[in-house]
Amino acid sequence: MFISQQLQEMLSNQITLELSAHMQYLAIAHYFESKSLDRLANFFYMQAEEEKIHGLKIVHFLGEADASITFAGLPAPKQNFASPEEAAEQFVAQEKANTDSFYAMQDVAVEQKDHITRNFLVWFIDEQLEELATSAKLLDMVRMSGDNMLMVEMMVPDLMAAMGGGGAAEGGAA
Ligand SMILES: [Fe+2]
Ligand SMILES: [Fe+2]
Repeated sequence: MFISQQLQEMLSNQITLELSAHMQYLAIAHYFESKSLDRLANFFYMQAEEEKIHGLKIVHFLGEADASITFAGLPAPKQNFASPEEAAEQFVAQEKANTDSFYAMQDVAVEQKDHITRNFLVWFIDEQLEELATSAKLLDMVRMSGDNMLMVEMMVPDLMAAMGGGGAAEGGAA
């Protein structure tokens, strides 16, 4: 194992966070799909897919680093939303928490002069800029649209374009 025990534990925990985000975004996708807001649903199915890929990336990294993984159970996602705004707020909160988690790992990697892990984490931190921006933009759109979610639905292609081509593989019909 060429990473510390502390980073092994933090990265194991991050796998749980990524897969929790995966399930959370499936729950949000389902919420929008049940309201016939299919573009928004597709957007969240795509987000869910990305989170799963993030989790896999960390599994592979720990494998390469010859480190063990402490797999944990996933908490149930939030699945009852009082409004689209609440679903969008959940997206923002999830991405903020995730960003904080990567910052904490990066701090430890730098402190331990573990440049392999530090470098590995840079990819995720770059990704978080996009995720924070996208989630904040969606929440703004939902708030500006008031009760008219069809307005937001129409804006989903712009939201995806703002993501810089991320997730093109899962873009679907939106
Ligand atoms: Fe992620
Ligand atoms: Fe994310």
